[in-house]
Amino acid sequence: MNIMVPVEHETPDPRLLLAVDGVTVDFDGFKALNNFSMTLDRGSLRVLIGPNGAGKSTLCDTIIGRVRATSGRVIFKGEEITRLPEDEIVRRGICRKFQTPGILPSLTVRDNLAIAAQRDRRWWRSFGLDIRGTERERVDEVLEQVGLTDRQHETASLLAHGEKQWLEIGMVVATQADLLLLDEPTAGMGPAETSRTAELIRSLLGQHTVLVIDHDMSFVEQLDGRVTVLHQGQFLKEGSVSEIRNDPEVAAVYLGRAKDDAAPHA
Ligand SMILES: Nc1ncnc2c1ncn2[C@@H]1O[C@H](COP(=O)(O)OP(=O)(O)O)[C@@H](O)[C@H]1O
Ligand SMILES: [Mg+2]
Repeated sequence: MNIMVPVEHETPDPRLLLAVDGVTVDFDGFKALNNFSMTLDRGSLRVLIGPNGAGKSTLCDTIIGRVRATSGRVIFKGEEITRLPEDEIVRRGICRKFQTPGILPSLTVRDNLAIAAQRDRRWWRSFGLDIRGTERERVDEVLEQVGLTDRQHETASLLAHGEKQWLEIGMVVATQADLLLLDEPTAGMGPAETSRTAELIRSLLGQHTVLVIDHDMSFVEQLDGRVTVLHQGQFLKEGSVSEIRNDPEVAAVYLGRAKDDAAPHA
């Protein structure tokens, strides 16, 4: 079932930041996404869950233009971005944190953030650290937000695993993107670090819209955002954390599939 999205001659709903409209991604006959639709309001938090292989990372890849939709549309700020190149989509205000760390380990914590904060956002290519005043302030702000002010002059490689993840979230925040896509930000974290990450993400709302992918249900509960469940590339359910937790269809999907994934009632 397709959802209503703004078309050219209509005034787009100003609250709507992103609409994924009936997107299918076909990898040589295998549909990693199958007619999937979802909308995100500005400043909101959405948590995307689903068993391994459900298509969660593919959805992020499609939103940011790394994977091409076979059919369907992605609308961002009222404009279609489905076929734009990735760097143009990034320029328009979407930033993604990958499952694997993307920090520059030989640079300091501060310089990692400074590069991310640079206007052109091509920070992985430009090592020019001639940072303007406003950017310096923004870096200070982000350091506070992710709790790394005290460690700003240390080499990033010396950070603990959880701190590296927070630095990466900070790098995404420093780009000042409107929409942040966080793919499994708590991978490899213990309970204390996971709680801190949920707090950090919640502190970003309002200023940013955040789509978080994770399957750790205790983390999902702490995030306390609306949850969308993806299963075999298709929309399965959307609801509050407690609605999803008590949904028999969702439980069946988790119990019937990946053993590695936490069942929603675990
Ligand atoms: N480039 C690709 N080519 C072929 N199959 C792919 C490709 N990327 C992902 N897939 C398949 O699509 C499905 C969804 O993958 P993915 O989006 O990574 O799932 P999730 O992030 O939910 O675990 C998986 O079965 C995966 O093997
Ligand atoms: Mg994934």
